[in-house]
Amino acid sequence: MCGIIGYTGKGRAREILIEGLRRLEYRGYDSAGVSVCDGNVIRTVKSQGRISVLDEKIGDELPGTSGIGHTRWATHGAPTDTNAHPHASADGKFAIVHNGIIENYEALREELTRHGMKFQSETDSEVVVNLLDYYYDGDFKNTVMKATSRLEGSYALGIVCSDFPGTLFAVRNMSPLIIGIGAGENYFASDVTAFISHTKNIIHLDDGMFAKVTPDGVTIYNSIGAKVRPTYEKVTWDAEAAEKGGYEHFMLKEIMEQPRALEATINPRLKEGKFSPEGLESLDISKIDRIVITACGSAYHAGVVGRYVIESLCRIPTTAELASELRYASPILNERTLVIAISQSGETADTLAAMREAKKLGAPVLAIVNVVGSSVASLADYVLYTWAGPEIAVATTKGYTTQVAMLDIFAVWAAGKLGTVTPEREAELTSAIVSLPACVQRAIYLASNVEEIAKHSHKHSSLFFIGRNIDYACCLEASLKLKEVSYIHSEAYAAGELKHGTIALISQNQLVIAIACYEALREKTMSNIQQVKARGANVIAVAHETDRSLIAEADDVIFVPETEPLFMAVPQIVPMQLLAYYVARENGCDIDKPKNLAKSVTVE
Ligand code: G6P
Repeated sequence: MCGIIGYTGKGRAREILIEGLRRLEYRGYDSAGVSVCDGNVIRTVKSQGRISVLDEKIGDELPGTSGIGHTRWATHGAPTDTNAHPHASADGKFAIVHNGIIENYEALREELTRHGMKFQSETDSEVVVNLLDYYYDGDFKNTVMKATSRLEGSYALGIVCSDFPGTLFAVRNMSPLIIGIGAGENYFASDVTAFISHTKNIIHLDDGMFAKVTPDGVTIYNSIGAKVRPTYEKVTWDAEAAEKGGYEHFMLKEIMEQPRALEATINPRLKEGKFSPEGLESLDISKIDRIVITACGSAYHAGVVGRYVIESLCRIPTTAELASELRYASPILNERTLVIAISQSGETADTLAAMREAKKLGAPVLAIVNVVGSSVASLADYVLYTWAGPEIAVATTKGYTTQVAMLDIFAVWAAGKLGTVTPEREAELTSAIVSLPACVQRAIYLASNVEEIAKHSHKHSSLFFIGRNIDYACCLEASLKLKEVSYIHSEAYAAGELKHGTIALISQNQLVIAIACYEALREKTMSNIQQVKARGANVIAVAHETDRSLIAEADDVIFVPETEPLFMAVPQIVPMQLLAYYVARENGCDIDKPKNLAKSVTVE
């Protein structure tokens, strides 16, 4: 979703802002723009489309050493040049960039129009710049406070004022914003990727706080304008980790990185042969009688896997709920319900809202999250980081598998504490998790036929994924992956449900991908394969590498290495990620930045 960058220092702001915007491209956007301060003049250039279009439009213009930039993912108003950010006030004194949604913008717009102010765009964001103009009294900080006190909704703002060249204000309320501390130059951005090549020293702004950023320093204030002592943090990864490293796309790089990412998730949690994750010391699992997992997108699919694993090992009733549904469902949660919120970015608006609802009802909240210091991590009572490293491709891969592995670790830890597995079984499960990185490495190797399969299946306009239990959970993710990057319609079906309607859609040459790894239900899934084959379907089966019998049943087989059945979700998604990738490549899709999608969904 929208990305913000702010810079003030001695360098050419134009270059630094464009470089930052390029690094934020992965968040998803449809227009972009910058405002650069040159003495007491603010110049703004913005454009629909890609950053390269904006870069060309700017040319060699825009001198100046401070400014703000923005990538916009349209919510209010189409992705046009006029609706793109920054928005400037009529007299050109202020320019702003905004990420989030101003919920009371209609009322504010009406009020400001009554005061004679004019609006150029259809956006909710433009009210912010007109409020600043309206309240301006010569004091930049006071004006920012007065204007933002009128806003309802979520916002991260970057603000410049022509009377104060070199000074930027950054404001945060329920949308991500991070300050970067350099030497004689400072930054802010929606995420650290934007300025990681310049500095790794950061300050996380909390909700309700704002910052005055100049080349010589950063001052943090709370909502009533009192100075707050900041907590400095250091990012542990470098710019290289956010680059393609020789791969054609970030998605492929991140698929290949999964063995390493899983090691980073798993190994630090192992102490003397047992899982003992830091962050869970004070969680008394014996006081929990129900678990509700909540998340969005792929993180929700990881939760569906987790539900099967936790129920099976811990015997605690567990459900997986979409955060966007849970937040409005009047959920029945209390202090004995553990809510597990899962998020790669840690900034997903619906997940955060579901967490707030859970906390309001007294439920303890455990976060499984990748981005350190993110809003999800800050809000949770207990945090387990996946430590997968930066994920740039919009379609998550290593983010998802590390979430599943973290849930597996949690389930084994909890089962050990509860005594629902014997110490011998706990040791067996632990060693299966420790072997997951090697297993995923082998899954990548075994999937060498997937590129070939993609070459003769990329023309299908619609397909079905079928499977049972954990295989079904895997189908959900496989189907989403394919939709996201290749735009091919697909549906995931619990194989046993086929006969209740969907089988009517199976006819000659319909492509069906059957995941048949879950040993206990293999025969059942085999029957479903035969049912669709009998109706003319083309079947690609995904099976254990030892399960050669499927070669006779299916048109193509993708083999996956065998591991503990409960943990198969991790290796078996790998060929499905690769299939989505290669099909999208065959179809010439924009794999890392699929149309209409955003990496970090910070609005509802
Ligand atoms: C977006 C991304 C998905 C992701 C979902 C949840 O839709 O494109 O890949 O699964 O958000 O994001 P989160 O950061 O909370 O895991």
